[in-house]
Amino acid sequence: MTGAVSDTLDAAALAAPAELKGVRIHQALLPPAAQAALLEDIRAVVRAAPLVRPVTPGGRAMSVRMTAAGDFGWITDSAGYRYERRHPSGVPWPPIPARVRAIWDAVAETDRAPECCLINWYADGARMGLHQDRDEGDFGCPVVSVSLGDDALFRVGGTERRAPTRSIWLRSGDVAVMGGAARLAWHGVDRTRFASSPLLPDGGRINLTLRVVTPPDAGAA
Ligand code: SIN
Ligand code: FE2
Repeated sequence: MTGAVSDTLDAAALAAPAELKGVRIHQALLPPAAQAALLEDIRAVVRAAPLVRPVTPGGRAMSVRMTAAGDFGWITDSAGYRYERRHPSGVPWPPIPARVRAIWDAVAETDRAPECCLINWYADGARMGLHQDRDEGDFGCPVVSVSLGDDALFRVGGTERRAPTRSIWLRSGDVAVMGGAARLAWHGVDRTRFASSPLLPDGGRINLTLRVVTPPDAGAA
């Protein structure tokens, strides 16, 4: 997509991503003004669909808090990992903000639209263990990850749990694309550097992941 919204992305970052085990990382794709605008969009989503602390099917509270925008949100509780059309409170998820959608359109290289924008909130000390994103119905579409706020040490492995891993610090404004052979790569966040970003002077990290949830036929236009 072209137009006013995507014009706020950095052209050099768009054209020349870094690469880590098949994950494309567009470093500093979002200039500071674009990050600030995105933050306001996310704050509006969180007002409508408040952050919740998810609990794994095994009964462990996750350190990251979550909400979502779009047709589906990813949730976990004692009933398992899954996508749902409503927030646990019963309200529908708010729509994916146009500025978030524009990032997908610029980097995802697919005709399909994102159906979920998962919002992860990392307070000081939060982390996310190594996992694969495999609850979606179309692995031909990437997962696009947007970082805002504190720096995060992002670890990426292979499609086998035991494959060697490599790590990179993701910074506010970076956009990572897990597609192709890296779509099912194991990945996680070992730690954040609390209050490292001027975007959130009180500290914390927001990660957005955009996903296509339904199988190819169900989503065809
Ligand atoms: C995720 O894998 O869902 C989150 C990745 C991140 O926070 O950078
Ligand atoms: Fe993930």
